[in-house]
Amino acid sequence: MLSSECVPYAKTGGLADVVGALPKALRQLGHQSMVVLPLYSSIDRVRLKIEPVLSPMGVWMGDRQEWCAVHRADMDGVPVYFIEFEQYFNRWGLYHDAAFRDYADNARRFAFLTRAGLQLCKDLGFKPDIVHAHDWQTALAAAYLKVWHWDDPILGQAASVLTIHNLAYQGVYPATDFAYLGLRWDNFTPDKLEAHGAINFLKGGIVYADAVNTVSPNYARETKAPAGGCGLAPFLNGKGERYRGILNGADYQSWDPAHDLHLPANYDAADLNGKAVCKRKLQQRFGLAESPRVPILGVVSRFVGQKGLDLLAATCDELLRSMQVQLAILGSGEKDLEHYFGGLAARYPGRVGTHIGYDEALSRWITAGSDFFIMPSRYEPCGLNQIYSLRYGTLPIVRATGGLDDTIQQYDETHGTGTGFKFWDPNASALYYTIGWAVSTYYDRPAHHQAMIQQAMAQDFSWERSAADYVRLYEQARAART
Ligand code: ADP
Ligand code: GLC
Repeated sequence: MLSSECVPYAKTGGLADVVGALPKALRQLGHQSMVVLPLYSSIDRVRLKIEPVLSPMGVWMGDRQEWCAVHRADMDGVPVYFIEFEQYFNRWGLYHDAAFRDYADNARRFAFLTRAGLQLCKDLGFKPDIVHAHDWQTALAAAYLKVWHWDDPILGQAASVLTIHNLAYQGVYPATDFAYLGLRWDNFTPDKLEAHGAINFLKGGIVYADAVNTVSPNYARETKAPAGGCGLAPFLNGKGERYRGILNGADYQSWDPAHDLHLPANYDAADLNGKAVCKRKLQQRFGLAESPRVPILGVVSRFVGQKGLDLLAATCDELLRSMQVQLAILGSGEKDLEHYFGGLAARYPGRVGTHIGYDEALSRWITAGSDFFIMPSRYEPCGLNQIYSLRYGTLPIVRATGGLDDTIQQYDETHGTGTGFKFWDPNASALYYTIGWAVSTYYDRPAHHQAMIQQAMAQDFSWERSAADYVRLYEQARAART
Protein backbone atom coordinates (compact mmCIF):
# COMPACT_ATOMS: atom_id res chain seq x y z
CA MET A 1 0.00 0.00 0.00
CA LEU A 2 1.54 3.26 -1.12
CA SER A 3 0.31 6.34 0.71
CA SER A 4 1.24 9.85 1.74
CA GLU A 5 -0.56 9.51 5.10
CA CYS A 6 -1.16 6.85 7.72
CA VAL A 7 -2.25 6.97 11.36
CA PRO A 8 -0.33 7.06 13.73
CA TYR A 9 2.56 8.47 11.69
CA ALA A 10 1.28 11.31 9.50
CA LYS A 11 -2.24 12.68 9.18
CA THR A 12 -4.04 15.63 7.71
CA GLY A 13 -7.40 13.96 7.10
CA GLY A 14 -9.37 10.76 6.69
CA LEU A 15 -6.90 9.19 4.24
CA ALA A 16 -4.59 8.60 7.21
CA ASP A 17 -7.34 6.90 9.20
CA VAL A 18 -8.12 4.59 6.29
CA VAL A 19 -4.53 3.58 5.54
CA GLY A 20 -3.92 3.08 9.26
CA ALA A 21 -6.84 0.67 9.55
CA LEU A 22 -7.34 -1.19 6.26
CA PRO A 23 -4.03 -3.15 6.27
CA LYS A 24 -4.79 -4.38 9.78
CA ALA A 25 -8.28 -5.45 8.75
CA LEU A 26 -6.81 -7.26 5.72
CA ARG A 27 -4.40 -9.01 8.05
CA GLN A 28 -7.35 -10.24 10.12
CA LEU A 29 -8.68 -11.80 6.92
CA GLY A 30 -5.38 -13.64 6.43
CA HIS A 31 -3.70 -11.31 3.93
CA GLN A 32 -0.21 -9.97 4.23
CA SER A 33 0.36 -6.34 3.43
CA MET A 34 2.95 -3.64 3.88
CA VAL A 35 2.66 0.13 3.80
CA VAL A 36 5.12 2.59 2.26
CA LEU A 37 5.17 6.20 3.53
CA PRO A 38 7.50 9.19 3.37
CA LEU A 39 9.66 9.74 6.44
CA TYR A 40 8.43 13.29 7.04
CA SER A 41 10.59 15.23 9.48
CA SER A 42 7.49 15.68 11.68
CA ILE A 43 7.41 11.94 12.42
CA ASP A 44 8.84 11.09 15.84
CA ARG A 45 11.12 8.14 15.07
CA VAL A 46 11.94 7.35 18.67
CA ARG A 47 8.42 7.38 20.06
CA LEU A 48 7.06 5.42 17.11
CA LYS A 49 9.93 2.91 17.16
CA ILE A 50 11.08 3.50 13.59
CA GLU A 51 14.39 1.77 12.81
CA PRO A 52 16.71 2.07 9.79
CA VAL A 53 16.73 -1.06 7.60
CA LEU A 54 18.21 -0.24 4.22
CA SER A 55 20.69 2.30 2.94
CA PRO A 56 21.31 3.41 0.35
CA MET A 57 18.47 2.64 -2.06
CA GLY A 58 18.76 4.02 -5.59
CA VAL A 59 15.59 5.21 -7.32
CA TRP A 60 15.62 6.17 -10.99
CA MET A 61 13.79 9.42 -11.70
CA GLY A 62 14.07 10.38 -15.35
CA ASP A 63 17.68 10.05 -16.26
CA ARG A 64 19.01 10.43 -12.76
CA GLN A 65 19.20 8.22 -9.73
CA GLU A 66 18.14 9.58 -6.33
CA TRP A 67 19.69 7.94 -3.28
CA CYS A 68 17.52 7.50 -0.23
CA ALA A 69 17.34 5.39 2.91
CA VAL A 70 14.58 3.13 4.19
CA HIS A 71 13.28 2.75 7.74
CA ARG A 72 10.75 0.40 9.21
CA ALA A 73 8.21 0.15 12.01
CA ASP A 74 5.62 -2.38 13.09
CA MET A 75 1.98 -1.28 13.04
CA ASP A 76 0.15 -4.02 14.98
CA GLY A 77 1.76 -6.71 12.87
CA VAL A 78 1.79 -4.75 9.60
CA PRO A 79 5.26 -3.65 8.43
CA VAL A 80 5.43 0.03 7.56
CA TYR A 81 8.38 1.25 5.49
CA PHE A 82 9.46 4.88 5.45
CA ILE A 83 11.36 6.50 2.62
CA GLU A 84 13.91 8.94 3.98
CA PHE A 85 14.90 11.64 1.51
CA GLU A 86 15.63 14.94 3.22
CA GLN A 87 15.44 17.02 0.11
CA TYR A 88 11.74 16.18 -0.28
CA PHE A 89 10.39 15.24 3.13
CA ASN A 90 12.21 17.50 5.54
CA ARG A 91 9.52 20.19 5.40
CA TRP A 92 7.14 22.09 7.65
CA GLY A 93 3.99 20.33 6.41
CA LEU A 94 3.05 17.33 4.31
CA TYR A 95 1.88 19.20 1.22
CA HIS A 96 2.22 22.92 1.92
CA ASP A 97 4.06 25.47 4.00
CA ALA A 98 2.77 27.35 7.03
CA ALA A 99 1.06 29.88 4.77
CA PHE A 100 -0.90 27.07 3.04
CA ARG A 101 1.13 27.44 -0.15
CA ASP A 102 1.59 24.08 -1.90
CA TYR A 103 5.23 23.10 -2.30
CA ALA A 104 6.32 23.80 -5.85
CA ASP A 105 7.91 20.37 -6.24
CA ASN A 106 4.96 18.22 -5.10
CA ALA A 107 4.85 16.38 -8.43
CA ARG A 108 8.45 15.33 -7.96
CA ARG A 109 8.09 14.57 -4.26
CA PHE A 110 5.23 12.15 -4.65
CA ALA A 111 6.27 10.59 -7.93
CA PHE A 112 9.54 9.87 -6.17
CA LEU A 113 7.73 8.31 -3.20
CA THR A 114 5.78 6.11 -5.60
CA ARG A 115 8.81 4.92 -7.52
CA ALA A 116 10.71 4.39 -4.28
CA GLY A 117 7.89 2.15 -3.03
CA LEU A 118 8.11 0.00 -6.16
CA GLN A 119 11.91 -0.08 -5.99
CA LEU A 120 11.65 -1.17 -2.36
CA CYS A 121 9.66 -4.26 -3.37
CA LYS A 122 12.54 -5.18 -5.66
CA ASP A 123 15.24 -4.52 -3.05
CA LEU A 124 13.33 -6.53 -0.43
CA GLY A 125 12.37 -9.30 -2.83
CA PHE A 126 8.74 -8.69 -1.82
CA LYS A 127 6.55 -9.88 -4.68
CA PRO A 128 3.15 -8.22 -4.30
CA ASP A 129 -0.04 -9.56 -5.87
CA ILE A 130 -1.48 -6.08 -5.57
CA VAL A 131 0.01 -2.62 -5.51
CA HIS A 132 -2.62 -0.43 -3.88
CA ALA A 133 -2.25 3.32 -4.44
CA HIS A 134 -4.19 6.08 -2.64
CA ASP A 135 -5.15 9.39 -4.21
CA TRP A 136 -3.15 11.41 -6.73
CA GLN A 137 -0.01 11.26 -4.61
CA THR A 138 0.70 7.63 -5.45
CA ALA A 139 -1.66 7.14 -8.41
CA LEU A 140 1.24 6.91 -10.86
CA ALA A 141 2.11 3.49 -9.41
CA ALA A 142 -0.36 1.98 -11.88
CA ALA A 143 1.38 3.76 -14.78
CA TYR A 144 4.87 2.73 -13.65
CA LEU A 145 3.78 -0.89 -13.39
CA LYS A 146 2.26 -0.93 -16.87
CA VAL A 147 4.97 1.11 -18.60
CA TRP A 148 8.12 -0.21 -16.95
CA HIS A 149 7.63 -3.26 -14.80
CA TRP A 150 5.43 -5.51 -16.95
CA ASP A 151 8.20 -8.10 -17.39
CA ASP A 152 9.91 -7.65 -14.02
CA PRO A 153 10.40 -10.86 -11.99
CA ILE A 154 9.24 -9.12 -8.80
CA LEU A 155 6.59 -6.67 -10.03
CA GLY A 156 5.59 -8.22 -13.34
CA GLN A 157 2.55 -10.06 -11.95
CA ALA A 158 1.33 -7.29 -9.68
CA ALA A 159 -2.11 -5.88 -10.40
CA SER A 160 -2.77 -2.26 -9.50
CA VAL A 161 -5.64 -0.79 -7.52
CA LEU A 162 -6.27 2.91 -7.05
CA THR A 163 -8.46 4.27 -4.29
CA ILE A 164 -9.81 7.78 -4.83
CA HIS A 165 -10.46 9.52 -1.53
CA ASN A 166 -11.18 12.83 -3.17
CA LEU A 167 -11.68 13.34 -6.90
CA ALA A 168 -11.19 17.10 -6.67
CA TYR A 169 -7.50 16.78 -5.85
CA GLN A 170 -6.00 15.41 -9.04
CA GLY A 171 -2.33 16.33 -8.91
CA VAL A 172 -2.15 18.61 -11.94
CA TYR A 173 1.36 19.80 -12.79
CA PRO A 174 3.15 21.50 -15.65
CA ALA A 175 4.52 19.38 -18.45
CA THR A 176 8.01 20.55 -17.49
CA ASP A 177 7.87 18.07 -14.60
CA PHE A 178 7.20 15.15 -16.93
CA ALA A 179 10.79 14.23 -17.74
CA TYR A 180 11.59 13.77 -14.05
CA LEU A 181 8.71 11.32 -13.57
CA GLY A 182 10.48 8.88 -15.84
CA LEU A 183 7.45 7.88 -17.91
CA ARG A 184 7.61 7.67 -21.67
CA TRP A 185 6.57 10.73 -23.69
CA ASP A 186 4.26 8.61 -25.84
CA ASN A 187 2.12 8.19 -22.70
CA PHE A 188 1.70 11.94 -22.40
CA THR A 189 -1.52 11.98 -24.40
CA PRO A 190 -5.10 13.08 -23.59
CA ASP A 191 -6.28 9.48 -23.22
CA LYS A 192 -3.61 8.81 -20.59
CA LEU A 193 -1.51 11.20 -18.51
CA GLU A 194 -2.11 14.51 -20.19
CA ALA A 195 -5.03 16.89 -19.62
CA HIS A 196 -5.20 20.36 -21.13
CA GLY A 197 -1.47 20.34 -21.76
CA ALA A 198 -0.62 19.49 -18.14
CA ILE A 199 0.18 16.25 -16.33
CA ASN A 200 -2.75 14.81 -14.39
CA PHE A 201 -1.61 12.18 -11.88
CA LEU A 202 -5.05 10.97 -10.91
CA LYS A 203 -6.27 10.64 -14.46
CA GLY A 204 -3.17 8.61 -15.31
CA GLY A 205 -3.82 6.40 -12.30
CA ILE A 206 -7.44 5.83 -13.31
CA VAL A 207 -6.51 4.95 -16.87
CA TYR A 208 -3.71 2.55 -15.99
CA ALA A 209 -5.07 0.89 -12.82
CA ASP A 210 -6.56 -2.58 -13.12
CA ALA A 211 -9.31 -1.56 -10.72
CA VAL A 212 -10.38 1.73 -9.16
CA ASN A 213 -12.64 2.52 -6.26
CA THR A 214 -13.80 5.41 -4.21
CA VAL A 215 -14.86 5.49 -0.61
CA SER A 216 -18.65 5.26 -0.72
CA PRO A 217 -21.18 3.84 -3.19
CA ASN A 218 -23.02 7.15 -3.43
CA TYR A 219 -19.86 9.13 -4.27
CA ALA A 220 -19.04 6.50 -6.90
CA ARG A 221 -22.45 7.23 -8.49
CA GLU A 222 -22.04 10.98 -8.20
CA THR A 223 -18.59 10.95 -9.79
CA LYS A 224 -19.79 8.97 -12.79
CA ALA A 225 -22.12 11.85 -13.70
CA PRO A 226 -20.52 14.77 -15.54
CA ALA A 227 -21.44 17.28 -12.82
CA GLY A 228 -19.69 15.31 -10.08
CA GLY A 229 -16.85 13.89 -12.10
CA CYS A 230 -14.44 16.84 -11.86
CA GLY A 231 -13.69 16.34 -15.55
CA LEU A 232 -12.83 12.66 -15.14
CA ALA A 233 -16.30 11.08 -15.41
CA PRO A 234 -15.60 9.59 -18.87
CA PHE A 235 -12.51 7.83 -17.55
CA LEU A 236 -14.31 6.53 -14.48
CA ASN A 237 -17.18 5.29 -16.63
CA GLY A 238 -14.60 3.72 -18.91
CA LYS A 239 -13.60 1.35 -16.10
CA GLY A 240 -17.09 -0.22 -16.15
CA GLU A 241 -17.45 -2.73 -13.30
CA ARG A 242 -13.90 -2.00 -12.28
CA TYR A 243 -14.89 1.31 -10.69
CA ARG A 244 -17.14 1.23 -7.66
CA GLY A 245 -17.63 2.49 -4.14
CA ILE A 246 -16.47 0.74 -1.00
CA LEU A 247 -17.56 2.46 2.17
CA ASN A 248 -14.80 3.36 4.62
CA GLY A 249 -14.91 1.66 7.97
CA ALA A 250 -14.17 3.04 11.40
CA ASP A 251 -11.40 1.71 13.59
CA TYR A 252 -13.47 1.11 16.71
CA GLN A 253 -10.38 0.11 18.65
CA SER A 254 -9.42 3.73 18.46
CA TRP A 255 -12.83 5.41 18.14
CA ASP A 256 -14.87 3.99 21.00
CA PRO A 257 -16.20 6.21 23.81
CA ALA A 258 -15.91 3.31 26.25
CA HIS A 259 -12.12 3.18 25.87
CA ASP A 260 -11.05 6.51 24.36
CA LEU A 261 -8.17 7.66 26.59
CA HIS A 262 -8.42 11.25 25.33
CA LEU A 263 -11.84 11.74 26.94
CA PRO A 264 -12.37 13.17 30.40
CA ALA A 265 -14.85 10.33 31.05
CA ASN A 266 -15.82 7.15 29.26
CA TYR A 267 -19.29 5.83 28.52
CA ASP A 268 -21.31 3.39 26.48
CA ALA A 269 -24.88 3.08 25.22
CA ALA A 270 -26.06 1.46 28.45
CA ASP A 271 -24.71 4.27 30.65
CA LEU A 272 -24.42 7.75 29.21
CA ASN A 273 -23.31 9.47 32.42
CA GLY A 274 -19.79 9.81 31.04
CA LYS A 275 -21.16 11.68 28.04
CA ALA A 276 -22.70 14.26 30.36
CA VAL A 277 -19.30 14.67 32.03
CA CYS A 278 -17.67 15.15 28.60
CA LYS A 279 -20.26 17.83 27.84
CA ARG A 280 -19.57 19.69 31.08
CA LYS A 281 -15.79 19.50 30.56
CA LEU A 282 -16.19 20.70 26.99
CA GLN A 283 -18.21 23.68 28.22
CA GLN A 284 -15.47 24.43 30.75
CA ARG A 285 -12.73 24.02 28.15
CA PHE A 286 -14.39 26.55 25.84
CA GLY A 287 -15.72 28.89 28.54
CA LEU A 288 -19.33 28.08 27.58
CA ALA A 289 -22.15 28.47 30.06
CA GLU A 290 -22.22 25.24 32.04
CA SER A 291 -25.61 23.81 31.42
CA PRO A 292 -26.55 20.21 30.74
CA ARG A 293 -29.79 21.37 29.12
CA VAL A 294 -28.50 23.53 26.28
CA PRO A 295 -27.57 21.49 23.19
CA ILE A 296 -24.01 21.81 21.87
CA LEU A 297 -23.44 21.75 18.13
CA GLY A 298 -19.94 20.45 17.34
CA VAL A 299 -17.70 20.98 14.32
CA VAL A 300 -14.35 19.28 13.66
CA SER A 301 -13.11 19.90 10.15
CA ARG A 302 -10.55 21.03 7.69
CA PHE A 303 -11.63 24.55 6.71
CA VAL A 304 -11.85 24.08 2.95
CA GLY A 305 -14.61 24.77 0.43
CA GLN A 306 -15.59 21.09 0.27
CA LYS A 307 -16.80 21.11 3.87
CA GLY A 308 -19.48 23.79 3.31
CA LEU A 309 -18.62 25.67 6.49
CA ASP A 310 -19.34 28.93 4.69
CA LEU A 311 -22.99 27.83 4.84
CA LEU A 312 -22.71 27.56 8.60
CA ALA A 313 -20.92 30.90 8.78
CA ALA A 314 -23.71 32.50 6.77
CA THR A 315 -26.36 31.38 9.24
CA CYS A 316 -24.56 31.60 12.60
CA ASP A 317 -25.92 34.97 13.69
CA GLU A 318 -29.49 34.01 12.93
CA LEU A 319 -28.95 30.63 14.56
CA LEU A 320 -27.57 32.11 17.75
CA ARG A 321 -30.28 34.76 17.85
CA SER A 322 -33.18 32.39 17.40
CA MET A 323 -32.10 29.19 19.14
CA GLN A 324 -30.84 28.34 22.60
CA VAL A 325 -27.68 26.48 21.49
CA GLN A 326 -23.93 26.49 21.97
CA LEU A 327 -21.25 25.94 19.33
CA ALA A 328 -17.91 24.12 19.78
CA ILE A 329 -15.68 24.47 16.74
CA LEU A 330 -12.26 22.99 15.91
CA GLY A 331 -10.47 23.33 12.60
CA SER A 332 -7.96 25.12 10.47
CA GLY A 333 -7.41 26.00 6.84
CA GLU A 334 -8.80 28.89 4.83
CA LYS A 335 -7.98 32.15 6.56
CA ASP A 336 -11.38 33.81 6.12
CA LEU A 337 -13.10 30.90 7.88
CA GLU A 338 -10.46 30.90 10.62
CA HIS A 339 -11.09 34.60 11.18
CA TYR A 340 -14.83 34.24 11.05
CA PHE A 341 -15.14 31.39 13.55
CA GLY A 342 -12.40 32.82 15.77
CA GLY A 343 -14.25 36.15 15.80
CA LEU A 344 -17.60 34.43 16.45
CA ALA A 345 -16.31 33.08 19.77
CA ALA A 346 -15.25 36.60 20.73
CA ARG A 347 -18.65 38.01 19.76
CA TYR A 348 -20.63 35.34 21.62
CA PRO A 349 -18.68 34.59 24.78
CA GLY A 350 -20.24 31.76 26.76
CA ARG A 351 -22.09 30.52 23.69
CA VAL A 352 -19.43 29.82 21.09
CA GLY A 353 -16.00 28.23 21.59
CA THR A 354 -13.49 28.02 18.75
CA HIS A 355 -10.05 26.50 18.58
CA ILE A 356 -8.09 27.15 15.40
CA GLY A 357 -5.62 24.35 14.86
CA TYR A 358 -5.26 20.61 14.68
CA ASP A 359 -5.82 18.82 17.97
CA GLU A 360 -6.51 15.10 18.22
CA ALA A 361 -7.61 15.10 21.87
CA LEU A 362 -9.91 18.11 21.46
CA SER A 363 -11.46 16.57 18.35
CA ARG A 364 -12.53 13.62 20.46
CA TRP A 365 -13.84 15.83 23.30
CA ILE A 366 -16.00 17.69 20.83
CA THR A 367 -17.22 14.45 19.30
CA ALA A 368 -18.15 13.09 22.73
CA GLY A 369 -19.31 16.26 24.51
CA SER A 370 -21.55 17.67 21.77
CA ASP A 371 -25.18 16.71 21.21
CA PHE A 372 -25.10 17.25 17.45
CA PHE A 373 -22.29 17.23 14.92
CA ILE A 374 -22.52 19.50 11.88
CA MET A 375 -21.22 18.51 8.42
CA PRO A 376 -22.76 20.69 5.70
CA SER A 377 -20.37 19.38 3.02
CA ARG A 378 -20.78 20.49 -0.58
CA TYR A 379 -19.44 17.07 -1.47
CA GLU A 380 -18.08 14.30 0.74
CA PRO A 381 -16.47 11.16 -0.67
CA CYS A 382 -17.14 9.31 2.55
CA GLY A 383 -16.59 11.34 5.69
CA LEU A 384 -15.42 9.72 8.88
CA ASN A 385 -16.45 12.27 11.46
CA GLN A 386 -20.15 11.46 11.10
CA ILE A 387 -19.34 7.76 11.54
CA TYR A 388 -17.33 8.50 14.69
CA SER A 389 -20.09 10.81 15.96
CA LEU A 390 -22.66 8.04 15.66
CA ARG A 391 -20.59 5.79 17.92
CA TYR A 392 -20.19 8.65 20.40
CA GLY A 393 -23.96 9.21 20.53
CA THR A 394 -23.69 12.63 18.88
CA LEU A 395 -26.30 12.95 16.15
CA PRO A 396 -24.97 14.17 12.79
CA ILE A 397 -26.62 17.04 10.94
CA VAL A 398 -25.41 16.53 7.38
CA ARG A 399 -25.97 17.47 3.81
CA ALA A 400 -27.13 14.36 1.98
CA THR A 401 -24.16 14.01 -0.33
CA GLY A 402 -21.62 11.26 -1.00
CA GLY A 403 -20.90 9.04 1.97
CA LEU A 404 -22.89 11.27 4.32
CA ASP A 405 -26.07 10.15 2.58
CA ASP A 406 -24.96 6.50 2.69
CA THR A 407 -24.19 6.45 6.40
CA ILE A 408 -26.89 8.58 8.02
CA GLN A 409 -30.55 7.56 8.30
CA GLN A 410 -32.96 10.45 8.23
CA TYR A 411 -34.99 11.17 11.37
CA ASP A 412 -38.54 9.95 11.04
CA GLU A 413 -40.65 12.21 13.23
CA THR A 414 -43.64 9.88 13.19
CA HIS A 415 -41.84 6.87 14.59
CA GLY A 416 -38.91 8.51 16.38
CA THR A 417 -36.35 6.54 14.40
CA GLY A 418 -33.22 7.52 12.47
CA THR A 419 -29.62 8.38 13.24
CA GLY A 420 -29.37 12.00 12.14
CA PHE A 421 -30.77 14.98 10.24
CA LYS A 422 -30.21 15.44 6.52
CA PHE A 423 -30.77 18.28 4.10
CA TRP A 424 -30.25 18.43 0.37
CA ASP A 425 -29.96 21.98 -0.92
CA PRO A 426 -26.48 23.39 -0.46
CA ASN A 427 -27.59 26.68 1.02
CA ALA A 428 -27.54 28.34 4.41
CA SER A 429 -31.28 28.37 4.95
CA ALA A 430 -31.60 24.61 4.37
CA LEU A 431 -28.88 24.13 6.97
CA TYR A 432 -30.56 26.60 9.32
CA TYR A 433 -33.92 24.84 9.19
CA THR A 434 -32.34 21.42 9.60
CA ILE A 435 -30.43 22.55 12.67
CA GLY A 436 -33.75 23.95 13.89
CA TRP A 437 -35.37 20.57 13.34
CA ALA A 438 -32.63 18.84 15.34
CA VAL A 439 -32.78 21.40 18.14
CA SER A 440 -36.58 21.12 18.38
CA THR A 441 -36.19 17.36 18.63
CA TYR A 442 -33.78 17.92 21.52
CA TYR A 443 -36.11 20.24 23.41
CA ASP A 444 -39.58 19.02 22.42
CA ARG A 445 -39.21 15.30 21.68
CA PRO A 446 -36.55 14.13 24.15
CA ALA A 447 -37.75 10.52 23.93
CA HIS A 448 -37.06 10.57 20.19
CA HIS A 449 -33.67 12.14 20.81
CA GLN A 450 -32.75 9.41 23.29
CA ALA A 451 -34.00 6.66 20.96
CA MET A 452 -31.92 8.11 18.13
CA ILE A 453 -28.82 8.14 20.32
CA GLN A 454 -29.33 4.44 20.99
CA GLN A 455 -29.86 3.72 17.32
CA ALA A 456 -26.80 5.78 16.37
CA MET A 457 -24.52 4.07 18.87
CA ALA A 458 -25.65 0.65 17.65
CA GLN A 459 -24.57 1.35 14.04
CA ASP A 460 -21.70 -0.83 12.92
CA PHE A 461 -19.27 0.49 10.35
CA SER A 462 -16.37 -1.73 11.36
CA TRP A 463 -13.68 -2.43 8.79
CA GLU A 464 -14.34 -6.14 8.55
CA ARG A 465 -16.99 -5.91 5.86
CA SER A 466 -15.22 -3.21 3.85
CA ALA A 467 -11.91 -5.08 3.97
CA ALA A 468 -13.64 -8.15 2.53
CA ASP A 469 -14.96 -5.91 -0.22
CA TYR A 470 -11.42 -4.69 -0.95
CA VAL A 471 -10.32 -8.31 -1.26
CA ARG A 472 -13.02 -8.78 -3.91
CA LEU A 473 -11.75 -5.68 -5.70
CA TYR A 474 -8.19 -7.05 -5.56
CA GLU A 475 -9.43 -10.28 -7.14
CA GLN A 476 -11.20 -8.30 -9.84
CA ALA A 477 -7.97 -6.38 -10.50
CA ARG A 478 -6.00 -9.60 -10.76
CA ALA A 479 -8.50 -11.09 -13.15
CA ALA A 480 -8.31 -7.95 -15.30
CA ARG A 481 -4.53 -8.14 -15.24
CA THR A 482 -4.27 -11.61 -16.73
P1 ADP B 1 -11.37 14.65 5.29
O1 ADP B 1 -10.43 13.52 5.09
O2 ADP B 1 -11.98 15.16 4.03
O3 ADP B 1 -10.79 15.76 6.10
P2 ADP B 1 -12.88 12.79 6.98
O4 ADP B 1 -14.17 13.00 7.70
O5 ADP B 1 -12.75 11.57 6.20
O6 ADP B 1 -12.63 14.12 6.13
O7 ADP B 1 -11.69 12.71 8.01
C1 ADP B 1 -11.23 13.78 8.77
C2 ADP B 1 -10.32 13.26 9.85
O8 ADP B 1 -9.44 14.29 10.26
C3 ADP B 1 -11.05 12.81 11.08
O9 ADP B 1 -10.33 11.78 11.73
C4 ADP B 1 -11.07 14.10 11.91
O10 ADP B 1 -11.26 13.85 13.27
C5 ADP B 1 -9.71 14.65 11.62
N1 ADP B 1 -9.61 16.10 11.75
C6 ADP B 1 -9.99 17.04 10.85
N2 ADP B 1 -9.70 18.28 11.30
C7 ADP B 1 -9.13 18.11 12.50
C8 ADP B 1 -8.60 19.01 13.48
N3 ADP B 1 -8.61 20.33 13.30
N4 ADP B 1 -8.06 18.48 14.60
C9 ADP B 1 -8.05 17.14 14.79
N5 ADP B 1 -8.53 16.25 13.92
C10 ADP B 1 -9.06 16.72 12.79
C1 GLC C 1 -11.03 12.27 1.82
C2 GLC C 1 -12.49 12.67 1.80
C3 GLC C 1 -13.30 12.09 2.94
C4 GLC C 1 -12.95 10.64 3.17
C5 GLC C 1 -11.46 10.49 3.38
C6 GLC C 1 -11.02 9.05 3.64
O1 GLC C 1 -10.24 13.14 2.56
O2 GLC C 1 -12.63 14.07 1.78
O3 GLC C 1 -14.67 12.21 2.64
O4 GLC C 1 -13.65 10.13 4.30
O5 GLC C 1 -10.78 10.94 2.24
O6 GLC C 1 -11.38 8.18 2.60
